[in-house]
Amino acid sequence: MRLLVDQIREALRGRHPLLYLRTPEEDRVVEALRALLPECFPGGSLTVWDCVNGLEPGGTAKDTRDPVRALEAVMASPPQGFCVMKDLSDFMDDPRVVRALRDAYHSFIKTGRTCVVLVSPVLVLPPTLEKELCLVEVDMPAPEDLLQRVLQVQKQYPRAKLAPEFQPELSMSLRGLTLNEVDHVMHRALGRDDASPRSLLEDIFAEKKVLAKKSGFLEYIAVPFDIARVGGLENVKDWAAKRKSLFTQDAFKAGLPVPRGVLMMGVSGCGKSMMAKAIASLWRVPLFRLDMNLVFSGLFGTPEAAFHRALSTIEAVAPAVLWIDEMEAALGAPKDVASDQSMMFSAFLTWMQEKPPLVFVAATANHIEKLPAEIIRKGRFDQVFFCDLPTEDERREIIQIHLGLNGADPKEVNIDRILVHTQGWSGAEIEQAIIAARIDAVQDKRRLATDDITRHTTSMVPLSKTMSEQIKAIRDWAFDRATRASRSKPNY
Ligand SMILES: Nc1ncnc2c1ncn2[C@@H]1O[C@H](COP(=O)(O)OP(=O)(O)O)[C@@H](O)[C@H]1O
Ligand SMILES: [Mg+2]
Repeated sequence: MRLLVDQIREALRGRHPLLYLRTPEEDRVVEALRALLPECFPGGSLTVWDCVNGLEPGGTAKDTRDPVRALEAVMASPPQGFCVMKDLSDFMDDPRVVRALRDAYHSFIKTGRTCVVLVSPVLVLPPTLEKELCLVEVDMPAPEDLLQRVLQVQKQYPRAKLAPEFQPELSMSLRGLTLNEVDHVMHRALGRDDASPRSLLEDIFAEKKVLAKKSGFLEYIAVPFDIARVGGLENVKDWAAKRKSLFTQDAFKAGLPVPRGVLMMGVSGCGKSMMAKAIASLWRVPLFRLDMNLVFSGLFGTPEAAFHRALSTIEAVAPAVLWIDEMEAALGAPKDVASDQSMMFSAFLTWMQEKPPLVFVAATANHIEKLPAEIIRKGRFDQVFFCDLPTEDERREIIQIHLGLNGADPKEVNIDRILVHTQGWSGAEIEQAIIAARIDAVQDKRRLATDDITRHTTSMVPLSKTMSEQIKAIRDWAFDRATRASRSKPNY
């Protein structure tokens, strides 16, 4: 994580007269540019434009709220120094704005006295400006910036003490918030009568949850999920249990290998989504589900921009598990190289490679063959698990779990008989049969009995019958590419 002044300085070294800083933090940019003025443009000044106030200071130019007029005014009497353009990304569909920026580029590259800096949280870059604009993806505030801000706010609350040994943890947990968000959360937390380090961390966490919600397509999954509710899938459970102490700040600092991600593929209804929830609960970290359909809906800008925003939001809430359910629906094999899917797919692969260490990706896929081969290559996911139809031992466990969840006593039910009836059934199908049986029993005001269940199991046709071809294809695919999620041997 670099300091903002260093990022800008680096871009300026290439003598770019047009910078595009992608960040929601306009104030922080203005502050950094002011600090850089004496070094980059000695004796120079800082001009700021937005579409409500026009250029400030405006000089002799009249009304400069119109972006083209503003750019013309800047070119007519170029100020020495920085000219920050705040709302320009909203006007990029106007060819006159694009023209004016191109003219500004050619004019200022000769003089080297003026640098136009566009600031926006979103990237709107017309292809005709790609070569002229130098894009800077601004990092979120560094821990030292965050701590400095915290200490500034704390001065207003002399009663609140922040012990020096607590400060590193505090600045770490604030990572991903903007400086203004730090202000809000610190005022809220320190303004309490009973402020303590614990309550402070809780407030910060609450703020991060809200952040995720604001993005619109990340959903915070609040319900803790007990791993004991998952029958079988012992290999995944062992894998996750072994890594529990590795997915922590301490492990990361100690240089231990932090788990990156897991892909669970296989037959529908066999517990893949369930396992994603169980891992987050086991590790005691928050779980966020990324809704790829919403990312693609166009409601949040282009899919590429929305996806990028989702990924940076999740970085902000780390440590966390990012759950991408039925990944093939969104990131499936691109048919057309220029498609949104293809762009998203390569953005995702790059992100997986470089992602922050404490974001764990739990992805699931029903139709693995739709995913491009690169995704399975080593280094992206730590492990690819294949969730097959449950074995007999696993079905026994699943039946017991769902009997328990439906208020029945497993001892009163002849599980062996149900096992005979449910060969080739998925966990989800077993669950459905038990729920249907419970409804019958409740209606007749009696306890759930074996016959209630077998009545339903004989009338339902499992997917393994109706889709036997597909299931065989999934198994063939997984045979030498994935690790079995179950410990017990398959009986087919
Ligand atoms: N191994 C299992 N143990 C207990 N319940 C299971 C199991 N597999 C599936 N289920 C039940 O079926 C439901 C659907 O499973 P899910 O995890 O959504 O399947 P998938 O994502 O593989 O399609 C779960 O909510 C759970 O109630
Ligand atoms: Mg699922």
